Amino acid sequence: MAAKSQILVETPSSASSLTPPMSISCVKELVESNTLITSIPSNYIFSTNLSDDQVVTEELPIIDFSLLTSGSPDQRSKIVHELGKACQDWGFFMVINHGVPENLREEMLNACQRFFDLTEEEKREYAGKHVTDPIRCGTSFNASVEKVFFWRDFLKVFVHPEFHSPGKPPGFSKRTRQVAIELLKGISESLGLQEYYIDNEMKLEKGFQILAGNLYPPCPEPELAMGMPPHSDHGLLTLLIDNCIGGLQIQHKGKWVQVNSLPNSFLVNIGDHLEILSNGKYKSVLHRAKVNDKTTRVSLAIAHGPSLDTVVSPAPELLNSESNKPAYSGMKYRDYMELQQGSVLNEKTSLDRVRVK
Ligand code: OGA
Ligand code: NI
Repeated sequence: MAAKSQILVETPSSASSLTPPMSISCVKELVESNTLITSIPSNYIFSTNLSDDQVVTEELPIIDFSLLTSGSPDQRSKIVHELGKACQDWGFFMVINHGVPENLREEMLNACQRFFDLTEEEKREYAGKHVTDPIRCGTSFNASVEKVFFWRDFLKVFVHPEFHSPGKPPGFSKRTRQVAIELLKGISESLGLQEYYIDNEMKLEKGFQILAGNLYPPCPEPELAMGMPPHSDHGLLTLLIDNCIGGLQIQHKGKWVQVNSLPNSFLVNIGDHLEILSNGKYKSVLHRAKVNDKTTRVSLAIAHGPSLDTVVSPAPELLNSESNKPAYSGMKYRDYMELQQGSVLNEKTSLDRVRVK
């Protein structure tokens, strides 16, 4: 079975390129076994030149979480309004004053790094698993169906409704879960729905929560390779933290915006299922992870979704027989998630499959 999880890296044609070992199972090993690597293998070439893309720096919306949970009624209604605006205009915002202790974040990022530092042999237990396996690691996104690989290794762990972990405590996942649930209450209200609407309808008590640890080793040709290609996330909301090495970019009004996160903040983005539920009022946002040639970047994306057995379709309360017809058909979250995780990651192609034509 172990051999199945390995990717054979072809020897690149250009003579100046590295000579890869016979088989490579992750980017980390590719980099570490070729310390003098100056160019990337041809099957990692995503683009002829990413530096041609226009990238801008803009201020992202900032949401003060403490006002949602302990503000006065006035402050709360103001922040709900800001949350709605951030969802509608950006689909992406930064959350500050969220109450998740700094040391828990650090511990999680370190735990993630330590996992990637295990030997290939030790990681093999989790390698090459199916998308329904609660703990799996691998490289790129879905190496079994990809022609071009991404400069990224990952670990994915299901943490709710059942907690799994290769030996780590549940504290962090529980705390981010509380943050996500509170945000979803505010988002419900911002849509003109009851505070607990999303919680109840999406059966968040049994909501599917998956933690993805991403490792982006230094890349000798960062303008050619991609850590993660433009994509949207499948759930309702994703919370993301990283080790403060930039790389995340989001699409906003047709341009790529470089995300520089505030210290100790969560980057939050809307996933496909909030787009479906809100009938397109709040859209899932395209984002990508660039790589750099100097430092390893580690990020943790925690995706919060409905329960796996929920069939999600646009909220009837938001529809109107004349002007606002359902724009997405219903699909069970489990089927959607498996479809997205089992395909080539490419923009919003999974969502396109449930869009009403
Ligand atoms: C993801 C993701 C971006 C990043 O894991 O879905 O978009 O910056 N990660 O690591
Ligand atoms: Ni993502």
